Amino acid sequence: MRRKVTVVGSGNVGATVAHRLADKQLADVVMIDILEGVPQGKGLDLLEAGPIEGYDVRVRGTNNYADTANSDLVVMTAGFPRKPGMSRDDLLKANHDVVKSAIEQAVKYSPDSILIVVTNPLDAMAQTAYKVSGFSKNRVIGMAGVLDTARYRTFIAEALNVSVQNVQGFVLGGHGDAMVPVPRYTTVAGIPVGELMPKEQLDQIITRTRSGGVEIVNLLKAGSAYYAPSAAVVEMIDAIFNDRKKILPCAAYLEGEYGIKGLFVGVPVKLGARGIEQIIEIKLTPEEQAGLQKSAAAVKELVEVIKV
Ligand code: 2OP
Repeated sequence: MRRKVTVVGSGNVGATVAHRLADKQLADVVMIDILEGVPQGKGLDLLEAGPIEGYDVRVRGTNNYADTANSDLVVMTAGFPRKPGMSRDDLLKANHDVVKSAIEQAVKYSPDSILIVVTNPLDAMAQTAYKVSGFSKNRVIGMAGVLDTARYRTFIAEALNVSVQNVQGFVLGGHGDAMVPVPRYTTVAGIPVGELMPKEQLDQIITRTRSGGVEIVNLLKAGSAYYAPSAAVVEMIDAIFNDRKKILPCAAYLEGEYGIKGLFVGVPVKLGARGIEQIIEIKLTPEEQAGLQKSAAAVKELVEVIKV
């Protein structure tokens, strides 16, 4: 059975997600946007690349939610992007309205789908999608940890001049300036990273990771990152569709885990056919736990503003 993915938003993130899904033949893709012609044009263009690339998934764009019916998974990318000088949190109210109306429509037509939320501010928008959809918590997942961790791994690999594939680790917390990379659980081919680089260097990498999104926004000037964000989304979809039981850092609805209740925050989860199949609780030092609480408090402030 072919899978069907709806991508809400046909901007750079949405279109690149569609592109990667087609390339990997993971699913038929419907891109939906309020802009007329853009999702249709990008969808047709991607479809026409099929004979050259050798994929025969169907890709199309639409402005009508009826075309998204019976999707297995919905990726929410629509929203206003961040401009230079603007924090993720400035986007809060504007994007809350966008996510609310899009998710209402999407879940009406795909009541059994899994939702992956990408729109910023990420954790608060995942919480919005959770509340609006009424879906069980395992079926609403925020993408951010995979992206933040990819940036962290990239910088470590670059600093040590080793393969990115050797670098394992994860970033906890919300997708904001208070995110928490965890050096204690960061390894390079199994070697604790602290054995391979001085603390000061790792601290610089952590700082750069925290502002990884801003670094790209400042370079692009118009718009924000999309190659790495879309790759992160597609790694999550691959884990779900192939029931890989892959442990990845994602924003999940916590109900007491890590001492956090009623909030989406980034933690390691097991992704499989049912979405989030397990929240992995690891032991944190008091300092790491304090960092996570601080990051969660920043998410809580946002969700209180939009009352979700
Ligand atoms: C990023 O981290 C903008 O949140 C987005 O690239």
